[in-house]
Amino acid sequence: MNLLVLGANSDVAFALAGRFAQFEKADLYLASRNVTALEKKARDLTIRHGITATPLFFDAEDCKSHADFYESLKPKPDGVVAAFGYLGDQAAAQKDFHQARRIFHANFIGAVSILEIVAADFERRGHGFIIGLSSVAGQRGRQSNYFYGAAKGAFSIYLSGLRNRLAPRGVKVITVLPGFIRTKMTESMELPEKLTALPEEAARDIHRAFQKSKDIVYTRWFWKWIMLVIRSIPEPVFKRLRL
Ligand SMILES: NC(=O)c1ccc[n+]([C@@H]2O[C@H](COP(=O)([O-])OP(=O)(O)OC[C@H]3O[C@@H](n4cnc5c(N)ncnc54)[C@H](OP(=O)(O)O)[C@@H]3O)[C@@H](O)[C@H]2O)c1
Repeated sequence: MNLLVLGANSDVAFALAGRFAQFEKADLYLASRNVTALEKKARDLTIRHGITATPLFFDAEDCKSHADFYESLKPKPDGVVAAFGYLGDQAAAQKDFHQARRIFHANFIGAVSILEIVAADFERRGHGFIIGLSSVAGQRGRQSNYFYGAAKGAFSIYLSGLRNRLAPRGVKVITVLPGFIRTKMTESMELPEKLTALPEEAARDIHRAFQKSKDIVYTRWFWKWIMLVIRSIPEPVFKRLRL
C-alpha cells in the first residue's frame, strides 16, 4: 500500500503514519511545509518499519500547486490522510480578516483543493480511501474559536458529501472528529487531563476505524457523547455559557 500523508509533521499524522507502516506495511509519502523535519521523520519510520518513506514539500494553502504536486506522485497513493490544520488566533482573526482567511484556507479551502484532485483519481480508478482530520469544534460555534470551528464544520460537511459521491466507486471516506489531543497545536493550552488523548491514542482510534471500515470516528470515543450533550443545549442557554 502507498499512503500519502498531507500535513505529516502533525503529531497525530506522524503517529498514524507509524501505525500504517507497522500494521499495513505501507510505503509513505510524507508531505508538509517543513521538509527538514519530515526528512528526520522519514528516516525514523524507514529504520523502525523497513518501509520506504519519502519526504515531500506540500503547502495546503498554495492551491495552484496542488495539481502538479499530485501529478508528480509515482506510483499514485492507495490512500490519503488530510491531517494539516491551523488553529489560528480567534482574537486576531476578529480584528484582521487576513487572519480569518488563513484559518479558512489552511483548514478548509486547501483541503478541498487537494482532495478534489485525489477524489477524481480514486473515482476513475475505483480504488482508494481518504481519511480527513476534522474536529468536534465544527459541531457547534463557540465565541472562543468560531473561525476554526466554522472551517472544520465546513470540512466535515465536505467529507460527508465526498463519501456520498465516492461510495458507489468503492472509495472509502473517513471523517475523524478529535476532541482534545496533546500536540504542538494545543501545547500552550491548559487541557482537562481526563478528556485529553495522546497522539498515539488518536492514531490507534483512527487506524481501528480504517480497519473496521467506519465512516465517522470520534477520538477518544467519549467525545461522541459529550458532543451529543453540547449539541442538544438550547441556543438561549448556550449563548449565556460564553464558551
Ligand atoms: N490537537 C488537537 O487537540 C486537535 C483537536 C481537534 C482536531 N485536530 C486536528 O487534527 C489535525 C492534526 O492536528 P495536530 O494536533 O496533530 O497538529 P500539529 O501537531 O499542530 O500539526 C499540524 C501540522 O499541520 C501542518 N500545516 C499547517 N498548515 C499547513 C499548510 N498550509 N500546509 C501544509 N501543512 C500545514 C504543519 O506542518 P509544518 O510543520 O510542515 O508546517 C503542522 O505540523 C489537524 O487538522 C487539527 O486541526 C487537532
